[in-house]
Formats: sequence, structure tokens, C-alpha cells
Amino acid sequence: MTAEHTRRTAIATAAVATGGTLLVGCGGGSSPSDGSPPRLPADRPLATLADIPVGESRAVTSGEENIIVSRTAEATAVAFSAVCTHQGCKVQPEAAELRCPCHGSTFDPRTGEALSGPANAPLPEIPVRVENGQVLPS
Ligand code: FES
Repeated sequence: MTAEHTRRTAIATAAVATGGTLLVGCGGGSSPSDGSPPRLPADRPLATLADIPVGESRAVTSGEENIIVSRTAEATAVAFSAVCTHQGCKVQPEAAELRCPCHGSTFDPRTGEALSGPANAPLPEIPVRVENGQVLPS
């Protein structure tokens, strides 16, 4: 192995490592949402109201879908796709808002509206209903 070969190998390895780091930095993502809500089975509860204090949100999954459920009042809830509308990372509840860990966008947990960028489109709403304390897709 020559010194030149070793140097090239080191540069190639560093390039791969850097690219890998960049990919990891945006990890947890999927494609940015196209604005349409995911199709979910209507008989599978997304959450139990009793598990979400009024005014708070929870990240849940249904099949492959990442979803945010926000309890807006004693007997009501709303839900949104957790796929960030910027580049597709998974948005999480954080304090009184929804935050994307990749680039810091924030969203209103009651409306899905983008509050701060870089995302500027709202999280797609998932229509839900509350039956017997369960939050179900409509
Ligand atoms: S992917 Fe969410 S802010 Fe960039």
C-alpha cells in the first residue's frame, strides 16, 4: 500500500463519514408530507384521552404512521401527521408546542400551523373523533 493510496483511502473514508453524519443529522425522517393526511383504520384507537392531560400532546404510531394527538379540551382531541413539512423529520411534543428536532421548526399543537421555520406549511390534520374516551380516526 502506497502513501498516496493511504491518503486517498483516508479522504474517501472521511467523505463517507461526513456524508453519513449529515444523513444522521436529518435522520428519523421520511419524505416531507404532501399535505394529505395518512389513511388510517377507523376502528383502531390512536390514543386514550385519559393518557393526555388537557392542553398537552402525545406522539403515537398507527402502523407505520407517526402521529401527534393533542387534547384540546376535556372531551376533544385533534391529530396531525408528525412528518415535518420541511424535510420529513419526526416532529415531537415539547412543552407547549410541537418541535422538529432536525432544524427547529415549531408547530401549534391545536392547529398544526407552522409557528417558526424553516417549515412554513402546517402539519396535515388527521380527522379524529372521540368515542368512549378513545381517540379514533374519522
Ligand atoms: S425537517 Fe423539520 S425543520 Fe427541517
